[in-house]
Amino acid sequence: MTFNPLKEKGIPLEKQLRNWHQIVGKPYNKTEVDCYTRTRQILMNGIEVEAWGFKHQLARYLDDNEDKIKLSQIGRIENTQQMTCNWMGPEDQSVLDTTLAYEQVAVDLTAWLAQNEPDKYVKEVFDFGLLEDFDHLYRYAQFAYAREGTKPNDIVQGQTDVITGRPTQHHHNCNGLRKRKHYDKATASPQTKVNILTVLSGEQQTHNFYAEHGFMYGDHTLRETYAEIKDVEEEHVTMYESLIDPSESLWEKFLVHEFTEVCNYYTCMEDEVIFKSHQNCSKNTKNVILRRLSVQRLFFLAGL
Ligand SMILES: [Fe+2]
Ligand SMILES: [Fe+2]
Ligand SMILES: [Fe+2]
Ligand SMILES: [Fe+2]
Repeated sequence: MTFNPLKEKGIPLEKQLRNWHQIVGKPYNKTEVDCYTRTRQILMNGIEVEAWGFKHQLARYLDDNEDKIKLSQIGRIENTQQMTCNWMGPEDQSVLDTTLAYEQVAVDLTAWLAQNEPDKYVKEVFDFGLLEDFDHLYRYAQFAYAREGTKPNDIVQGQTDVITGRPTQHHHNCNGLRKRKHYDKATASPQTKVNILTVLSGEQQTHNFYAEHGFMYGDHTLRETYAEIKDVEEEHVTMYESLIDPSESLWEKFLVHEFTEVCNYYTCMEDEVIFKSHQNCSKNTKNVILRRLSVQRLFFLAGL
């Protein structure tokens, strides 16, 4: 399948409203879910949080009433899409379980983006960030095993290499040192722009998850570890956002945000189908996939 956003019709905004029953879907089973379904769910939550937050930032710079009203309507849809994505997570998935999955997103997604990044300089930045997120995965894996008896492969399912408990060194530095050269909006490939905003959204959400959940453990060493790694995620956000050309107008940025959403929904949708078709699934399973596909397709089109 190929994807041409200019040929997709999209869904009119007024038809994108869904009821609570549709917004709050059924959570997945944490032991049966494919690890990459879980990572896609985590990534799309991060993409939606960024899409929602950007619209509110944009609204604060606008004085046109009609623009503000339209933006508020789109922002409301982002808000519901974020809920649907994030709330697929089940209640028995502990904070440390979810943390391992967040770092699997960071490692595997950044590795994939680095391999498919046309700009050599941006690729190097991805390679660098990737190594630090490996480190986080190793350290959290140690806590998950010690506190909850969870082995890393219970979550990453053998798809991401984990060496439990490698100590961190040389991680923290002045955030100003994380600043990189930005791309030129006139010459950069759309793929580069989408890749950067994708990894940036993921890293930002990882930072936010640690900020919101690191305090939920009584173990002081673990709380300090969450605080410390959250600080590294702050460095990652600083680094990735510095790659973006600041001369892009707010409306150009708006467009890149929507394009990033549709690209990510598209690839998530495609990968879910590929994964299932590889399993030679039964007719019944196929029906479930088709239903799921239509929900994802709705999201994908809604982003346009
Ligand atoms: Fe969205
Ligand atoms: Fe990380
Ligand atoms: Fe990170
Ligand atoms: Fe959107």
